[in-house]
Amino acid sequence: MKTTTPTTIDQKDYTPPTHLVSSVDLCFDLDDTNTLVQTRMEITANPAAKNSSALTLNGENILLKSVKINGKQLANSEYDLTDTTLTITSLPQRCTLEIENVIDPQGNTALDGLYKAGGIFCTQNEPEGFRRITYFLDRSDVMASFKTKIIADKKLHPVLLSNGNLIAQGDLPTGKHWAEWEDPFKKPCYLFALVAGDLGCIEDCYTTAGGRDVTLKIYCDKGNESRCYYAMEALKKSMKWDEKVFGLEYDLDIYMIVAVDSFNMGAMENKGLNIFNTVCVLADEKTATDDNFLSVEAVIAHEYFHNWTGNRVTCRDWFQLTLKEGLTVFRDQEFTSDMHSRAVKRIDDVQALRIRQFPEEEGPMAHSIKPNSYIAVNNFYTTTIYEKGAEVIRMIHTLIGKEEFRKGIDRYFELFDGQAVTTEDFVRAMEEASGYDLTQFKRWYSQAGTPQVNVEEEYNSVAQTLKLTVKQSSKPTADGSAKDPLYFPLTLGLIDSNGNDIALKIKKPNTLLHGSTLVIKEREQQFLFEEVPQNVTLSLNRNFSAPIKLSTKKDRTTQTFLMAHDKDPFNRWDAAQELATAVILQLVNDIQQNRPLALDDSFAYAFGIVLDDHTIDYSFKSRMLQIPTETVVAQQMETIDFDAIHQAREFVVASLAKEYEKQFTQLYHSLQTKEDYSIDSNSIGRRTLKNRSLGYLSHIPNETNLKLCFAQYSTSTNMTDAFFPLTFLAHIDCKERNAALKDFYDKWHNDTLVIIKWFRAQALSKLPNTLQQVEQLLQNPAYNEKIPNIVRSLIAAFTQNHIHFHSKNGEGYSLLTEQILRLDPINPQIAASLVGAFKILPKLDKQRKSLVTTHLQRILQTETLSTNVYEIASKTLAH
Ligand code: TRP
Ligand code: ZN
Repeated sequence: MKTTTPTTIDQKDYTPPTHLVSSVDLCFDLDDTNTLVQTRMEITANPAAKNSSALTLNGENILLKSVKINGKQLANSEYDLTDTTLTITSLPQRCTLEIENVIDPQGNTALDGLYKAGGIFCTQNEPEGFRRITYFLDRSDVMASFKTKIIADKKLHPVLLSNGNLIAQGDLPTGKHWAEWEDPFKKPCYLFALVAGDLGCIEDCYTTAGGRDVTLKIYCDKGNESRCYYAMEALKKSMKWDEKVFGLEYDLDIYMIVAVDSFNMGAMENKGLNIFNTVCVLADEKTATDDNFLSVEAVIAHEYFHNWTGNRVTCRDWFQLTLKEGLTVFRDQEFTSDMHSRAVKRIDDVQALRIRQFPEEEGPMAHSIKPNSYIAVNNFYTTTIYEKGAEVIRMIHTLIGKEEFRKGIDRYFELFDGQAVTTEDFVRAMEEASGYDLTQFKRWYSQAGTPQVNVEEEYNSVAQTLKLTVKQSSKPTADGSAKDPLYFPLTLGLIDSNGNDIALKIKKPNTLLHGSTLVIKEREQQFLFEEVPQNVTLSLNRNFSAPIKLSTKKDRTTQTFLMAHDKDPFNRWDAAQELATAVILQLVNDIQQNRPLALDDSFAYAFGIVLDDHTIDYSFKSRMLQIPTETVVAQQMETIDFDAIHQAREFVVASLAKEYEKQFTQLYHSLQTKEDYSIDSNSIGRRTLKNRSLGYLSHIPNETNLKLCFAQYSTSTNMTDAFFPLTFLAHIDCKERNAALKDFYDKWHNDTLVIIKWFRAQALSKLPNTLQQVEQLLQNPAYNEKIPNIVRSLIAAFTQNHIHFHSKNGEGYSLLTEQILRLDPINPQIAASLVGAFKILPKLDKQRKSLVTTHLQRILQTETLSTNVYEIASKTLAH
């Protein structure tokens, strides 16, 4: 058992810093295991603090060499040192503090702070990595200007980078060289960055609307330069878009991005020097799928947008994380919507929200977008903070409208540029600019849970009125937050029998925002629509105007009608999803009752209509032909029956494939093209739909279809067309499978970024021996547990494989537990993210519950457990 219980940090305990740091001078003498860090900072007592005679600095995993105040070395008795702090008991109101310490970048496998991996020195300081570099006031409301000198071996590390502008550089007689960087903008230390290595680079430039020439550089391992051009284009598009849509220009003369293989998350917005996971930068047609290209573009945009929403205005403390993340995700979603299909982007985002965020709120780690407390802040970089946070921003956008929202953003920067602020400050700026009262709306920040919304319709054919009764409620969540009625926009439409929207007329005193949106704010409300003709169909929560669950049960006829006619593309897709989910759930029931299975006729018919529809674009059509994932279906069940869901879903897909084999074959061939690979939206859509067709055909694994898969795999000249058939074949025990997997491995085993696709495809396989396969793959020379991307591609992917991870014999759970305990000493953030697979505990049957409980207890009995793993394991068990 852990001997001391880790401390919980509470939102309400915020106090201002005792001291302020105006400037920091850093000097790094880089060495693999013995890097000397010299820090010199100007410190003043904070007038806003109550008590500021003692100064406590954060520091972890570092070796202190000396402390000086105003040039005078302190004796040991003049400071207190613990594992995590350095306290100087008394110091003048204003002074210069100098610290020397030593760190071990090579030994830093946690990838937090300064670390060396793959021959590159780099940093990750958000949220609390800087304290692993030197003793510092490691909190986001302490903002300083930084000057950084880097000394390193010139041959091994010719490239030396930090934030801001290069102000000086030179050689040293010892074969070393140095560079000095200065960042003119004050920033919290979590935005500090340093990179040293032997890197390749591509360069471009961008002239801002205001006429500033900005040098753009993307650094990567030598040999990968050609894979950076797509990211560079994405960067320039992002810069242009932010000027056009939000009037925001870049503020330094240089913008650098460095791609590294070993990185805990996607990317990091360090001022002027972003550091990226290679997955989010490198892309060319040979090695990246269309999805990879799109995510590169989105992440480049996300980090760029942080320069204003995150860096120029930052968070007062980490409870405010959604202030920058929710807003920046909203901004990158809007960017992608403008670059590609708005409807498809919305569909993909909502689908991701339902697969990842909805379960989080039902589980043991449920929290509002502004959590009440945490043990390890790293565990709170969640889909709730990010994606639900973006939904909350989107609701403000929907309520006040696009123009007012823009005014609100302008106001936000007018009031808070250069400051570390709170979510209340953001909402206040929105209210001031728009005149809209968001008091009740703010509950979204403190209340967890997905509201359940029920709408009853009552049509009066004599009066030609339609009465809607809207009720909202929220189930209790693990964090125990209050469940008060929430304030949200509910966009709707009324569709006549020809499929056209009718104009909405609402009876006063109620009103419609922007012509089609109801404001919901009470537990129960009624709305009366007038001049409503007979036989209209209600389309609710259009464009997913609020992140809620509609519990209104539509009959099959209504669902099929909406699926065919709704003018709101999101709801058209959603009707198809709802219908398919209902069909699968019915089959689950049949399986549980041992009844014979048959595919629902009305669903098969509606599906056929979509398949024949030539008026909708490829991307949207491919979404319409999607069958909800096992995770989406599982949400509808109190206790999840993994095997029955799997069997039912496979039955649906295979039945559709059989019924429409001819159409899929035709569609597949009609979408072939002789044109060169291109990555515009239309070409992406074409490939997506083509591969969707192939996916269905692979569910009839006869010789023709297996050959078709293998032929596409082996003749394709781009990764998208090679990877899809590989993933389809991975589920089928046949010689084509073995041949494709072997060929892929032979080609790519030296390329980490590509070989993770090979691991993932096998980890997700339906074949009965998948668990044994995963165990074998853990021994593969290409597997490397120090590289998070690889761990995610094999172990995290396996936890998504419902039938195998949740196998009744418990072997999937044992495998995960073993890996968590192996990985925790190496990289606690990655280990903790894997414990997340057990968050599903409350929805497991008795037998599985008891297995998982035993594993969690075993994890918690480990003596040297990280606080990251401790927090998730203990909260899951306690629930
Ligand atoms: N701020 C980063 C982003 O969302 C998130 C991030 C990158 C991060 N790396 C991290 C968070 C490591 C925690 C730990 O763009
Ligand atoms: Zn972010």
